[in-house]
Amino acid sequence: MSGPNTDYDPVEVSSLQQGEIDAARDAAIAAIEAAADLEQLKAVRSAHAGDRSPLALANREIGALPPQARKEAGQRVGQARGAVSKALAERQVVLEAEHEERMLVEETVDVTLPTDRRPEGARHPLTTGAELIADIFVAMGWEVAEGPVIEAEWLNFDALNLGPDHPARTMQDTFWTEPADRHLVLRTHTSPVQARTMLTRRPPIYVVCPGRVFRTDEYDATHSPMFHQVEGLAIDEGISMAHLKGTLDHFATQMFGEGITTRFRPSYFPFTEPSAEVDLVCFVCRGSQVDEDGDTCRTCRGEGWIEWGGCGIVNPRVLRACGVDSERYSGFAFGMGIDRTLMFRHGLEDLRTLFEGDVRFTTAFGSDL
Ligand code: PHE
Repeated sequence: MSGPNTDYDPVEVSSLQQGEIDAARDAAIAAIEAAADLEQLKAVRSAHAGDRSPLALANREIGALPPQARKEAGQRVGQARGAVSKALAERQVVLEAEHEERMLVEETVDVTLPTDRRPEGARHPLTTGAELIADIFVAMGWEVAEGPVIEAEWLNFDALNLGPDHPARTMQDTFWTEPADRHLVLRTHTSPVQARTMLTRRPPIYVVCPGRVFRTDEYDATHSPMFHQVEGLAIDEGISMAHLKGTLDHFATQMFGEGITTRFRPSYFPFTEPSAEVDLVCFVCRGSQVDEDGDTCRTCRGEGWIEWGGCGIVNPRVLRACGVDSERYSGFAFGMGIDRTLMFRHGLEDLRTLFEGDVRFTTAFGSDL
């Protein structure tokens, strides 16, 4: 509208009629009362008290009225707007209080609830198993030695009396690395740590070497291209096969319980002479070869014994290759699979459960082993 409307007739300007104003006010108040939360009240505020609300538009009409009509129209609209903003303010207080109360209930923290609902991890049985083995030896005054998994061919083979053309090299299904002229392999056993230890320390030497080893094996319930071994090496004056037997019997008893001892079967390893396979008394039938029902023991298949590892008196050629005086010193060495040992100890049927990282498996062991 432009210019004063001198011929103003209030009845003609519908937005300023009392009835219209009352209706706009009542609609606003009804909407305010109906707003159930602060979000809804915000929408009601902009619809009924915002710039484009009916009452705001009516207010704008006032300026176009003749001066004599402005006062009365202004009062009418002003009262209505005042009533609306009062209702808005009151509703705001009520809804804010309600909101606060709801938040207090919804965000209540029950401090009496148990706090251990976050699942707790557990150390892997291979870690705790290797530690347990190390502890058994440390208790006898031995030390723990480690070496790299990518190993010099010379230390993995040659130093251990396994020259390039030695037929026993093919027994160790080796992963070779490239370039071939660097002569590095993924170590096939923990025995190179023997060589490393002898090359860097003076006898007497008593070390256990737990670690990861690699062979080009299938991956199935009893084989894996990656597994774990523990090697033992003792070098001193007058070391004999009797010391070896006594040490392994002690190890077996500590690991599997009283009465679980070992027996030796003649064997061959280039790095030991004489060499033997070590067997354990079957920890299920305890050598009786039968189970509780008198049936053939399934764990040892009626043998009464279970294969555990290899051992022997360190070949003097290995001592000499590693700088040890073979006239003065002798030594024994042994090596067995840690995974296999843990499978026996815990009755695991499938080697793969040790490698697949399923926390349900690991947690079952807890931290105790
Ligand atoms: N290194 C041998 C193997 O992995 C085991 C062994 C260790 C045998 C020490 C004798 C002495 O087959």
